[in-house]
Amino acid sequence: MEYRIKDISLAEEGRRRIDWAESHMPVLVALRKKYGETKPLKGIRVAGCLHVTKETGVLVRTLKAAGAEISWCGCNPLSTQDDVAASLAKHEEVSVFASKGVSTEEYYDDIHSAMRLNPHITIDDGADLTVEMHKALEQGKKSGLTGPLFGGTEETTTGVIRLRAMQKAGKLLYPIIAVNDAETKHDFDNVYGTGQSALDGIIRATNVLLSGKNVVVAGYGHVGKGVARKAAGLGANVIVTEVDPIAALKAKLDGFSVATMKNASKIGDIFITATGCKDVILGEDISQMKDGAILANAGHFNVEISIPDLEKQSTAKKSINDSTMQYDLHTGNRVYLIGEGRLVNLAAAEGHPSEVMDMSFANQFLSVLKLAASKGSLKPMVYNIDKEQDQQIAMAKLQSMGVEIDQLTAEQKAYLEGFSEGT
Ligand SMILES: NC(=O)c1ccc[n+]([C@@H]2O[C@H](COP(=O)([O-])OP(=O)(O)OC[C@H]3O[C@@H](n4cnc5c(N)ncnc54)[C@H](O)[C@@H]3O)[C@@H](O)[C@H]2O)c1
Repeated sequence: MEYRIKDISLAEEGRRRIDWAESHMPVLVALRKKYGETKPLKGIRVAGCLHVTKETGVLVRTLKAAGAEISWCGCNPLSTQDDVAASLAKHEEVSVFASKGVSTEEYYDDIHSAMRLNPHITIDDGADLTVEMHKALEQGKKSGLTGPLFGGTEETTTGVIRLRAMQKAGKLLYPIIAVNDAETKHDFDNVYGTGQSALDGIIRATNVLLSGKNVVVAGYGHVGKGVARKAAGLGANVIVTEVDPIAALKAKLDGFSVATMKNASKIGDIFITATGCKDVILGEDISQMKDGAILANAGHFNVEISIPDLEKQSTAKKSINDSTMQYDLHTGNRVYLIGEGRLVNLAAAEGHPSEVMDMSFANQFLSVLKLAASKGSLKPMVYNIDKEQDQQIAMAKLQSMGVEIDQLTAEQKAYLEGFSEGT
């Protein structure tokens, strides 16, 4: 076991915070209890590239309890919680390569270090590890990857998009389970998790009052919808920008204003991008912004707000606090960028609440079990989570919350599946 982290002396604090997350993740804890006895991952090497947060700590404990040997790295230069990384290294005996604030070069070094485990299974968030694994596989055995490689999982929308593009181009070399596409993942984690934690990041970084502010949300998909609803709940006037007419119409009928970024940029107080696309806020938009406008991104990569354009529009910049940078524009106005335009909920807050990560990571864990059981027999393509797993996780979550639901009778089931009965 080896590690490269910021400060091992933070391990006790990290352990206490992982314990806290665990007490809010009953579905994952139940899986850990169940599979901790049979150890279906004994002898299986798992390399993970996923935000090193206290919730990830609970996933790692679960994989470990099921018998896996684990290496881990962060999937974003700013999202690692250094106390959690220390605890994983010291208390969970995981090879961890992750620190908050790494350079791009260090970030990729960490990914390559995690790959040295020669994994049977990869767990990814954004597809950076999977892409690096593919480059290594193309080099053959000299890369240190001697196999067997059973497959991988992918946690987020952007990662799934990248991997489906690889599949389409005939470049995907091993099977991937699209954890993001589980309903118990994207309909909860992306919507409620990012919705709440993105605002948490903005509030922690600036402590601005959202009430009465014009909050511009770019993208009205899962994440954008969650952010828009939570901002409205805090009293903000929400303006949505979109490129998809159906999503724009949904935003409009949900009661939000819809505008182009060109128009919204003149009136927004706070801008939050959530598209998974690049160049959503460009120099021409920034130059129109009001004095004091705040810019934040909730999408996976730091490409949604053009940082090069922001630099070009500015005469000077200065740091306001750990996560906020003031840019003085040529226009004489100031704008504030949070978390370097990286995922604001992780760069400036703690990421998603444990309660939603409970379901996302239950999907991750069960997908890893599936890949381990497949022993490499799956074809290299992107797989969806099956409905049964989704339903099982939703039911377990409801039970943990003390919620009961009705069940179909045999007659109702036949009615819903048939066509002969009408009025
Ligand atoms: N911050 C987090 O913790 C977190 C969590 C989950 C997902 N994500 C990331 O958030 C991003 C969005 O994920 P999602 O699940 O909401 O995706 P989604 O596909 O459900 O929604 C994206 C929306 O953005 C719109 N869009 C695309 N380009 C646009 C543009 N140029 N301008 C305006 N709108 C545009 C699309 O039409 C779509 O409606 C992805 O990068 C995803 O990986 C981040």
